[in-house]
Formats: sequence, C-alpha cells, structure tokens
Amino acid sequence: MSSTQGTTQGVIPAQLLRGQKALVTGANSGIGRATAVALGRAGADVVVNYVTGGEEAEKVVEEITGLGVRAAAYEADVSDEQQVVAMMDRMVREFGTIDILVANAGLQRDAPFTEMTLAQWQKVLDVNLTGQFLCAREATKEFLRRGVVPEVSRAAGKIICMSSVHQIIPWAGHVNYASSKGGVQMMMETLAQELAPKKIRVNAIAPGAIKTPINRSAWETPQAREDLLRLIPYDRIGEPEDIGHAAVGLASDLMDYVVGATLYVDGGMTLFPGFATGG
Ligand code: BGC
Repeated sequence: MSSTQGTTQGVIPAQLLRGQKALVTGANSGIGRATAVALGRAGADVVVNYVTGGEEAEKVVEEITGLGVRAAAYEADVSDEQQVVAMMDRMVREFGTIDILVANAGLQRDAPFTEMTLAQWQKVLDVNLTGQFLCAREATKEFLRRGVVPEVSRAAGKIICMSSVHQIIPWAGHVNYASSKGGVQMMMETLAQELAPKKIRVNAIAPGAIKTPINRSAWETPQAREDLLRLIPYDRIGEPEDIGHAAVGLASDLMDYVVGATLYVDGGMTLFPGFATGG
C-alpha cells in the first residue's frame, strides 16, 4: 500500500512547515515513511534516514521530491554514536540546518521473559531508547547553535519522539519493547523540561495499533484482526498517515505552546476498553 493512499492529499496545508528541514529516522517504511511524506506535503525538506532498505528509502525520497520539496536518503544506524554524528553533520552541510527531528526508528524482538536473550533486550534498548537519545542530542546541538529564526518558526527546534501506547500499557512477552518506550516517555519529559527555556519543544507521539510491518501478525488474519479491534474503541486499525498528520501538527507553530506532551494516537486503546462492559 502506498503511503499516499488514504486521506492525506489536499488536507495538509502546504505552507505549514515551509522552509523547515526535517529528519525522520527509520523513514523507509511504516510510520516513519508516512511521517516523512506528510512533512514533505506540509512544505518541509526531508532527510529520510534508514539502516536497511535503501531501495525503499529512495522511493520515499522520490515521492517527497515529487511534492516540490527537497529530500535525500541517509544511511545511519541510530544506535551508533559515530554514525549519528556523521548523519547530523551531513544534514547541516547539505540542507543548512535541522528544524524538526522525528526520532522514529524502532523495532521489536519479542520473547517470553525467561527465553529473552540479553542480545534481544539490548538490541531493542539500543535502537528504541539510546537511538533517540543520540539523535536528540545531536539535533539539539544544532538547534542551540542556530537559535530561533522567526521567519522559519517560533521555536529553535522541535523534537518528536515516537513512543507507543506501551509507554503506559504493560505488554507481556515484550518486556524489552515496553521498557524502551517507558524510557522514551521519561527521556522526552526530562528533555522537554531541560530544553524549553532554550525554545526547543520536545514532545512525543504514542501510536496504538498502526498497520505496518512491525505488527503484521496482529492484523493480517481475520481472527487476529477481530482480537485487535476489541482493544480499539474507535473500531479501526490505524493507518501510518494518522501518525504523519499528528507529527505535522506537533511540529508546526500551530502547536507552539505544546511542550513535553504525549499525544496518544490510538483510537482510544489507552482508555481501558475492557471496562466499557465491565468493572
Ligand atoms: C507495537 C505494535 C502493537 C501496538 C499496539 C506498538 O507500539 O509496535 O506491535 O500492535 O503497539 O499494541
């Protein structure tokens, strides 16, 4: 399914992020891809980061440049400090600066607790939490160096951390993933508190069940779909564009006073749906 499918076209005001430079990590597929395209539609130039899947990343770049803005694909492993530093240097060199970071790259390595290897635990923490730390740190250095440019944005920079409903919903069989997202929540709030006086806005999006490759098994069979929908009061599985739209809003000056917030984009998954008929 193309990420333009759905409702995006014509909905996002093309001037909203005009002239801003955005970096989206893990942007070759899923939520990252839809977010990169949505930012492009809003007028931002976009760096499409990927670690594997260079061909997909190039397709995303093509789609974004087709919108009349600049885009480029950068390969970097967000959990590798040198690679993140090099990626940010390259972005500043080639795009001039960075205004928006969407720290999105993330993965799952699921296992029952006693079968979970240290490698599975570590990999998920490295990418989902340390990766966001490294990207946020390097982006912040550039935000601080440049400061506010009023013609571009009221803020010196915007960081959007991609979290999950599992920052607050415990998730059996996924202790590494849920722990990483719990960490993202506290990292985001701490950074928001620390950086707000410097006019840097740090926020998070907590997606629920969004139809992407990461959770294919949860929606591809009719039975799995039915089980999943029972957890979603709004009675539809999310589309990657739902997250892209939220990211455009959070990144824009329309939401300039939103600082340290988590925007749950989950069709009501965090509303304890079991209690609709019980309790
Ligand atoms: C996970 C998905 C899951 C969703 C809702 C996301 O953070 O990556 O696998 O379907 O949360 O449980």
